[in-house]
Amino acid sequence: MSVAAKLAGGIPQSLLDELQAQGGHDAAELAHSLSHLPRALEVQPRASVLAMPEYHPPLASRDLLRLDFNENTVAPSPRVLAKLQSLTAEGLTIYPERGHGDAAAAAYFGLEPDEVLLTNGVDEGIHLLACAFLDAHDEVVINTPSFFMYDVSCSMQTQKIVRVQSGDDLSFPFERMMASLTPQTKMVLLATPNNPTGATVSREHILAIAAAAPQAVIFVDEAYFHFFGETVMRDIPAVKNIIIGRTFSKAYGLANLRLGMLAGNARLINFLKKVASPYNVNGVALEVLPEALADEEYLNGYVKAIHEGRERIQQSLKSWGVRTWPSASNFVLMDIGPRHKELVTRMREHGVLLRDRSADPGCDGYVRITVGVADQVTKGLDALRAVFDEMQWTPAESISAQGRSSGEEREYE
Ligand SMILES: Cc1ncc(COP(=O)(O)O)c(C=O)c1O
Repeated sequence: MSVAAKLAGGIPQSLLDELQAQGGHDAAELAHSLSHLPRALEVQPRASVLAMPEYHPPLASRDLLRLDFNENTVAPSPRVLAKLQSLTAEGLTIYPERGHGDAAAAAYFGLEPDEVLLTNGVDEGIHLLACAFLDAHDEVVINTPSFFMYDVSCSMQTQKIVRVQSGDDLSFPFERMMASLTPQTKMVLLATPNNPTGATVSREHILAIAAAAPQAVIFVDEAYFHFFGETVMRDIPAVKNIIIGRTFSKAYGLANLRLGMLAGNARLINFLKKVASPYNVNGVALEVLPEALADEEYLNGYVKAIHEGRERIQQSLKSWGVRTWPSASNFVLMDIGPRHKELVTRMREHGVLLRDRSADPGCDGYVRITVGVADQVTKGLDALRAVFDEMQWTPAESISAQGRSSGEEREYE
């Protein structure tokens, strides 16, 4: 291809950038001359993709005590580990066969197989919900602060996201959620327990929202169900517009295998199946799923340890004058105040990872700690006490003690 033909579409910006980066008189002069020529047309994504917020997951360096992402902090059930050992090399060469996995999950939850869709984590479930149900003119109602992926996936489809902010007590703002429903509301996303607050939504409130917006999908995210114990799973036959999300990343300890589930009315689940890719869940996850579900003894033991740890964390923080919020989950939110970043950095130096939630709407100055098992709770609390002492932190610098509101809305991380 001739040089003229190569440049027919214009000068690529990358070439100009390269010349600028080389520096020197010649490069600068050439870049200047070329910059007068027409620019290459660049591929642009859909407008809504340009406008979407981005989620930044941790990519490395979490080889410390992981009290930051609310995962199981120990290991999955020994039955899962035994099953993993039994997998064969040839098994890895076969496309995943999902039938038995869907059937096992459905049977466990007392549902029909067509009322269940296994997903690549609840993250993918949220993505599929947005793809299957949202058009650009549809409204979505979200309670903030909540799980950031709701914003990410929904804003890929529509800009009409109505965010209903919780008040200072961070409880679920039921009346204001109800008031924000309109005939255009197509989806309402509810996390119970909510992340990062630990607040819950009662069954009565979920059913009232579902009844008030029959044209909308009501997504009930029960990712942290095990640490709370209440569910609307049994309401699926009667309530046609709820879809429940469950994850195997938290209590079950399978975050690395990416396994989640959506459950709801078969008609809605069928739309989700249409937009899901055929092999969205890997075969290893499908193999271990029945073992994970069957080992209730393991699960109950882990949940009991988390309940005890949560109580210890709440009590210690209370005795140190740190404001927290009631949590029905495996984490506790703390009001640290303006030095929230410093606290997280110093905790890392003490070998403990925490999650700074300051950028969440209404959470300025707040830091979240995941509850682990007993010795991890001890290590986390010892490190926290040491860091408070090093920083000479006092409760007087927390957001609530200063009488300030952390309600100012900012961009998420
Ligand atoms: C409320 C909530 N829903 C869903 C998820 C994602 O779960 P998964 O690992 O199954 O994608 C999280 C993860 O932190 C969460 O906090």
